[in-house]
Amino acid sequence: MSKVAIIGSGPCGLSILRSFHQAELKGEKIPEITCFDKQSDWGGLWNYSWRTGSDQYGDTVPNSMYRYLWSNGPKECLEFADYTFDEHFGKAIPSFPPREVLYDYILGRAKKSDVKKYIRFDTIVTSVSHNGKEFSIKSKDKKNNSLLNEKFDNVVVATGHFSIPFIPEYEGMKSFPGRILHSHDFRDAEEFRGKNVIVLGSSYSAEDIALQCYKYGASSVTIGYRNNPMGFKWPSGMKEVHYLDRLEGKKAVFKDGHTQDADAIVLCTGYLHHFPFIEDKLKLETNNRLYPPKLYKGVVWQDNHSLFYLGMQDQFHTFNMFDAQAWYVRDLIVNKASLPTDAEISEDISQWMAKEGKLEDPLQMIDFQTEYTKDLCSMVDYPEIDMELIRKHFHDWEHHKEDDILQYRNKSFSSAVTGTVAPLHHTNWLDAMDDSMETFMNTKF
Ligand SMILES: Cc1cc2nc3c(=O)[nH]c(=O)nc-3n(C[C@H](O)[C@H](O)[C@H](O)COP(=O)(O)OP(=O)(O)OC[C@H]3O[C@@H](n4cnc5c(N)ncnc54)[C@H](O)[C@@H]3O)c2cc1C
Ligand SMILES: NC(=O)c1ccc[n+]([C@@H]2O[C@H](COP(=O)([O-])OP(=O)(O)OC[C@H]3O[C@@H](n4cnc5c(N)ncnc54)[C@H](OP(=O)(O)O)[C@@H]3O)[C@@H](O)[C@H]2O)c1
Repeated sequence: MSKVAIIGSGPCGLSILRSFHQAELKGEKIPEITCFDKQSDWGGLWNYSWRTGSDQYGDTVPNSMYRYLWSNGPKECLEFADYTFDEHFGKAIPSFPPREVLYDYILGRAKKSDVKKYIRFDTIVTSVSHNGKEFSIKSKDKKNNSLLNEKFDNVVVATGHFSIPFIPEYEGMKSFPGRILHSHDFRDAEEFRGKNVIVLGSSYSAEDIALQCYKYGASSVTIGYRNNPMGFKWPSGMKEVHYLDRLEGKKAVFKDGHTQDADAIVLCTGYLHHFPFIEDKLKLETNNRLYPPKLYKGVVWQDNHSLFYLGMQDQFHTFNMFDAQAWYVRDLIVNKASLPTDAEISEDISQWMAKEGKLEDPLQMIDFQTEYTKDLCSMVDYPEIDMELIRKHFHDWEHHKEDDILQYRNKSFSSAVTGTVAPLHHTNWLDAMDDSMETFMNTKF
């Protein structure tokens, strides 16, 4: 029987575990599976940790989510086709749940699939290499401080790419008298109540952390973009200015001449695709983009077809795209699907990357990733899901954000699997300070 290693038990790792479970239910023979996760529990980023920096073993903490994080896209766009929100919660719930609620949903499916038995927790993969025939994986059981070196036929890298922060330095940081942190280490906006906060970046972390600081009572929030401003209609107390030039004591001086006294700076400057444990010839090297290079159908390593990467794209689509990827990888591993010639693989990658290069705005990017996900779905037996409705939802969501960035989470969407229309949440996101699952679920909708 072939041996498969899965590195990571976040949403992507759980998708491939689920895909094997589904095949097994259909009576298909599945390989011997070992899944490694360096955390002590599953769920990846959704497994919230109060920790920043190192864990108790001295290893870096992968978690980047914060206490009051709510879904930033409609849940209907990420719903699993084979495990709906209705099935999990037994009733319709609003479209933008807090983190804890989505975590519960992810784990609900994982528990039902009985896949925990495959996962070695607290076990970090420290080396992946290939000798032309098979893979060697070195791992370390962090609890017992023991090392293992094992052989595998296939490796699936599902380690995520929003865990290792990219941290630039600006002039004056060393002498800045306030607090400087990366969004990776941001846990709780309460800390910034009454403070003047600078947020650097212009993507989702910048947007949401700036809004968190506003919601939880920062005195002012000044966002410094580098290339393109987000351009939302920010409420009074928030503004967007052009790029930090330098800090002079506690004064931030921006390229457009704007100045602002600051108590804290949050660097929302993104993450690195960082795989120090993978040997160079197998290592994905990319920035955060919709079609990383050298990955056929976004998942098969071009130079070694026994190696797969899941979820390495920049993400509009998430959980059901991870599923489509996982189902396809599973079919390749069990030889249910086959690959075209090297020339065709190369041509296919080039075509997708050329299309990606022409994208001009978020709506086109959404369309691109929808097409990509549809392409994968067309090749596998993933259950029916209305990707056109999801495309439309994402477009509407973009427009809602443009209309009112403080209100977009109060909208309702319909399921692309069941058709269920989400009820409106009882409290506007801006006023909802208690985002526990208990409060969220205890309400009659
Ligand atoms: C702040 C933030 C908020 C987000 N909010 C949303 C949202 O609202 N909705 C949404 O759909 N998506 C959101 N995302 C996107 C997120 O990327 C996905 O939802 C999802 O977590 C990706 O799953 P993954 O399995 O690829 O990676 P991860 O969730 O990062 O899981 C990777 C797993 O691999 C393990 N691992 C890493 N390296 C090793 C190693 N060497 N050995 C062993 N194990 C290892 C880690 O411990 C981790 O458990 C958010 C991302 C961030 C950073
Ligand atoms: N649920 C939620 O509410 C929530 C909240 C936060 C994050 N997320 C998710 O987290 C993921 C990561 O998002 P992200 O925003 O952290 O990363 P990202 O999307 O990769 O964006 C990185 C940002 O950093 C900026 N940047 C890089 N270097 C910089 C520098 N030297 N100075 C100033 N700006 C710099 C980039 O600006 P340029 O464009 O100029 O290069 C870009 O705006 C996404 O999937 C997102 O959906 C979700």
